[in-house]
Amino acid sequence: MFSNSFDIITFGSATRDIFLRSKDFKLIDCADFVSGKAMALGAGSKVYLDDLIFASGGGGTNVAATFALQGLKTAYAGLVGEDAGGKDILEELKNLKISTDFVKKTSKAKTPYSIILSSGRERTILVYEGASHLLSESDIDWNKIKKTKWFYVSGLSGESSKLFEKIINFAADNKIKLAVNPGHDQLTNNLEILKKCLNKIDILIVNQEEASQITGVDYKDESALFKKFDGLVPGIAVMSKGPEGVAVSDGKKIYRAGIPRSGYLDRTGSGDAFGSGFSAAILRGESIERAIQLGTVNATSTVQQIGAKNGLLKKGEWGEWERVDVSGEDLAV
Ligand SMILES: Nc1ncnc2c1ncn2[C@@H]1O[C@H](COP(=O)(O)OP(=O)(O)OP(=O)(O)O)[C@@H](O)[C@H]1O
Ligand SMILES: [Mg+2]
Repeated sequence: MFSNSFDIITFGSATRDIFLRSKDFKLIDCADFVSGKAMALGAGSKVYLDDLIFASGGGGTNVAATFALQGLKTAYAGLVGEDAGGKDILEELKNLKISTDFVKKTSKAKTPYSIILSSGRERTILVYEGASHLLSESDIDWNKIKKTKWFYVSGLSGESSKLFEKIINFAADNKIKLAVNPGHDQLTNNLEILKKCLNKIDILIVNQEEASQITGVDYKDESALFKKFDGLVPGIAVMSKGPEGVAVSDGKKIYRAGIPRSGYLDRTGSGDAFGSGFSAAILRGESIERAIQLGTVNATSTVQQIGAKNGLLKKGEWGEWERVDVSGEDLAV
């Protein structure tokens, strides 16, 4: 019976990623796109690639990888297609010692695929969301997923987004702790649902834009933003700021840290690496300072390599990077 219990079960997408690099992907000015630029390929021509890298991604499995590497008993709950990509994902999860007990297969869509076109300076991502879109209530073994201390819920899109509130309420009813990194659907069409769920969340992880979407406060005004957050989230609110590091509030203090001096190759997965590293430390009962340091070094290590799971740190490993200084500012009560 004990073998059925987990430290953490993760929800979110599972994807195959392929990185294509070529000097012949041209950037041209084009007013049709938000960025004002287009990534262009010669029509009717052959474009040669300098490199081709296969990796896996998706918020659900990326964070599960960190938890397992950090020595926690981890399961991933999600949906993959009945295809070669689905098989690859299951095999990778098993190699990482992540339980696949709660992974279901569907014939209704293929396993998600992202194709990342990189010109060196800029990248364009082609996304097929497929099976990750389709998780439904009947795909989840509600009775069995009770046996865990924590859930980590990352973005749930399409049909799967309808499960978001149900998973949060289920956790609260069953005294399962919750770390949540909301995705696009939670922050747009379902923002009101997300807001309703915030008072059940132990760790909320968002970036600056997402923090502003939730609170309605400009992220540049950090003290006003966290004041709002502290009223909404009883637990810990984490706001990541890309290469500028993070700010975290537990309602008593705002903690801030930058990032270590380091190189940088591919930022895919930095948010997942930070959120999962941070949560792994909290789950083990470590301080917020330590959690920030672990999340930061995990993210730093993964942005040195192409692929969201490459570079994630094992328990006890730290790589070559310094431990970042964490400052604390007491909040007036
Ligand atoms: N270029 C970088 N070099 C080192 N560390 C980085 C870099 N970019 C991000 N990080 C680390 O990763 C953390 C999370 O990054 P970020 O704020 O970009 O998350 P995000 O916007 O949620 O990313 P994602 O696109 O993966 O969802 C940062 O707080 C920082 O510690
Ligand atoms: Mg993110």
